[in-house]
Amino acid sequence: MLELLEDWKRTDYCGNLGLKDLDRNVILMGWVQSNRDHGGLIFVDLRDREGIVQVVFNPQLNKESHEKARKLKDEWIIAVKGTVKRRPLETLNQHIKTGEIEVIAKEIKLLNTSKVLPFPIENEIKVDELLRLKYRFLDLRRPLMKDNLILRHEIVSATRNYLNSNGFIEVETPYLTRSTPEGARDFLVPSRLNPGEFYALPQSPQLLKQTLMISGFDRYYQIVRCFRDEDLRADRQPEFTQIDLEMSFVNENNVMEVVEGMLKAIFKLSKGIDIGTPFPRMRYDEAMLKYGNDKPDTRFDLELSDITEIFKNSGFKVFSDPIKRGGIVKALNLKGKVPEFSRKELDDLAEFAKSFGAKGLAWIRVSGDEWQSPITKFLSEAEKEELKRTLKIEDGDIIFFAADRAYTVNLVLSNLRLQLGERFNMIDESKLSFIWVVDFPLLDFDETEKRYVAMHHPFTSPKEADLIHLDTAPEKVKARAYDIVLNGVEIGGGSIRIHRSDIQQKLFDKIGLEAEDAKKKFGFLLEALEYGAPPHGGIALGLDRLVMLLSGANSLRDVIAFPKTQKGICPLTEAPSPVDTEQLLELQIKVDLKQE
Ligand code: AMO
Ligand code: AMP
Repeated sequence: MLELLEDWKRTDYCGNLGLKDLDRNVILMGWVQSNRDHGGLIFVDLRDREGIVQVVFNPQLNKESHEKARKLKDEWIIAVKGTVKRRPLETLNQHIKTGEIEVIAKEIKLLNTSKVLPFPIENEIKVDELLRLKYRFLDLRRPLMKDNLILRHEIVSATRNYLNSNGFIEVETPYLTRSTPEGARDFLVPSRLNPGEFYALPQSPQLLKQTLMISGFDRYYQIVRCFRDEDLRADRQPEFTQIDLEMSFVNENNVMEVVEGMLKAIFKLSKGIDIGTPFPRMRYDEAMLKYGNDKPDTRFDLELSDITEIFKNSGFKVFSDPIKRGGIVKALNLKGKVPEFSRKELDDLAEFAKSFGAKGLAWIRVSGDEWQSPITKFLSEAEKEELKRTLKIEDGDIIFFAADRAYTVNLVLSNLRLQLGERFNMIDESKLSFIWVVDFPLLDFDETEKRYVAMHHPFTSPKEADLIHLDTAPEKVKARAYDIVLNGVEIGGGSIRIHRSDIQQKLFDKIGLEAEDAKKKFGFLLEALEYGAPPHGGIALGLDRLVMLLSGANSLRDVIAFPKTQKGICPLTEAPSPVDTEQLLELQIKVDLKQE
C-alpha cells in the first residue's frame, strides 16, 4: 500500500501557505498530525518543519483519495496534491499561522506508516525526560524543540556574520590534543599508534588560540565544541559549544566592545530585540558583597549586607565564634514581607540554607516595635541599634542571617536571595540584565590542595600595578579578567593574557607548577611566547547557555539536539558502552582495574 514519490516534487512547506497562495495548485509532503472524519469530509492536519496546514478530502471530488485519507493514522507520511482555498468564515483558526486557508486535496500518496507513538507530538506533554531522550527523533518533532534548534542555528549564523564582517578569521583547532586546564577533568582518548599514550579532548582551545595570535592571525574565532568531565547540572553538559575568540594588540575594553556588538547583533537578528550597550560593569568584590556570588542576577535588588563588624566582640557566640575563626556574618532584609511567613516556611528555609552547608538560619520578624526572633534575647541594645541602622529595619521587615566562613555565608545567602526573589515574584522575567564582572582576583587559595590556583586560568595576565604583590601577598593581585553575566547566568569569560614568557613562568611557579612540569605540559606555549608574542586577549561565550536564555528553556538539554543526561549518558545511542576485547587489545588497554 506504500507508494513512491515518482515525479512528485514538493512546491511549498505546509506552514508557509497563506492568503497569498489562494487558488494555487500545490504539492505538500509531511506527517499526519491528526485526522478527523466529519461524516462526508475528512480533515487532515499535515505538518512539516515550517508548521501545519489543514488538508480537506471531499468524496465528491475524488473518491479514491478520500478512501485513502480515511485510513491515515498519526505520524504517517503522505504527499498531497491540491488547491489552496480560503476557509469558510466559521472555520477560521487563529491558533495556527495558516488558519485562514486550507488545501482541497485532489490526490494523495501514502509514503510511509508509523508505529503508535510513546508520546504525542505536542508542546505540552507530561512524560519522563528519559523517554523523551530515548525517542529523541520524535521529541525533536515537537514544535518547541524544533524552534529551539532553529533559534540556535540563527544565533550561530548571526554570530558568524558579525565576526566575519569585523575582521575575524575562523580557524579550526584539533579535538585530539593535549590537556588544557580549565578546572575540570579531561576526557581521554587512547592512541592506538602510541600504546599507553592518550590524547585529551580540549576543555577549550585556549592554548592554541593564543598560539594563533603569535602566528599573526590577529583576530581569530571558532564556534567550537569543548569537553569537560565534570559533575553535570541543568546548566552544564560534558560537551558544549563555545563562541571562542581571541584578538591581538587589545585591552579589556576592546574585547568587551566586540562582545557587546556581537550580542547586539545576535539579539536583533534572532529575536528582533534591541539591547542597550555598553553593559554596566561591577567589580568582583562588590558582586560578592552585595549578591554573594560572581554572577549576580541584577534583575531585582534585595542586596546582602556585611554585618561582621557589629558582632566582632559580641556575646552571641553563634555569630562571634565564626568571626573569631576568620569567618563573616551577613544579612538579607526582605522588606515588608512579615505576614507572608509562617513558622513552617521559616523552618523550610532553614532546611534550604542547610542544604548549602549553613549551620542554621537565624531570622528576625519585625512587627511594630517588636522583634520576634529566636536570637534577639542574645543581642545587646547597642547591637540591635546598629542592626536597625545598617539594615534600615522597619515595621514589616523580615531579616535572615548567616554566620560562617565567607564561602559558606555567600553560598547560602546568594541562593536564599534567588529563592526569595522567585517566591515573591521580584524577578522581572521580561528584563535582560547584562553585566560585566571585572577585577577578579588572579589567584584563589585552594584549601584542600593547600596551594594557589588560577581563578580564571593560568594564562590570564595580572594587573600591571599589582605585580609587586605577586611574591608577598598573592591574594591581593587582581587579574585582567572579565566575565559576562546575563540574568544571573555566566554566559562568558575571558581575559587579557600573559604575553611574556618570564611572567608566565612566574605564574606557573606561583600555582605550584614546577618548571620541569610546566615545560612538559605547556612547553610549546612557553617557547612560542619567546618568539615575538603580541599583547593579546579574548573571551569565550557559552553558546548553549545563550540559546537557553534566548529560548526561555530551563535546561541546556532543551537546546542541544542530542544531549547527555545527568549521568553522562545518551539514552538514544546508549553511549557510553563497553567495547570489544579486540578493540581493547589493539589499544593495549585492560579494563579490570578495580576502584578500592
Ligand atoms: P570558561 O571556562 O569560563 O572560559 O568557559 C567559557 C564559557 O563556557 C560556558 N561553559 C559551559 N557551558 C555548558 N556546559 C559546561 N560544562 C560549560 N563550561 C563552561 C560558560 C562559560 O562562561 N578558555 C576560556 C575562555 C577565555 O579565556 O577566552 C574558557 O574556556 O558560559
Ligand atoms: P541555636 O542557638 O543553635 O539554637 O541557634 C539560634 C538561632 O540561630 C537558630 O534560629 C539557628 O537557626 C540560628 N543559627 C545557628 N547557627 C547559625 C549560623 N551559623 N548562622 C546563622 N544562623 C545560625
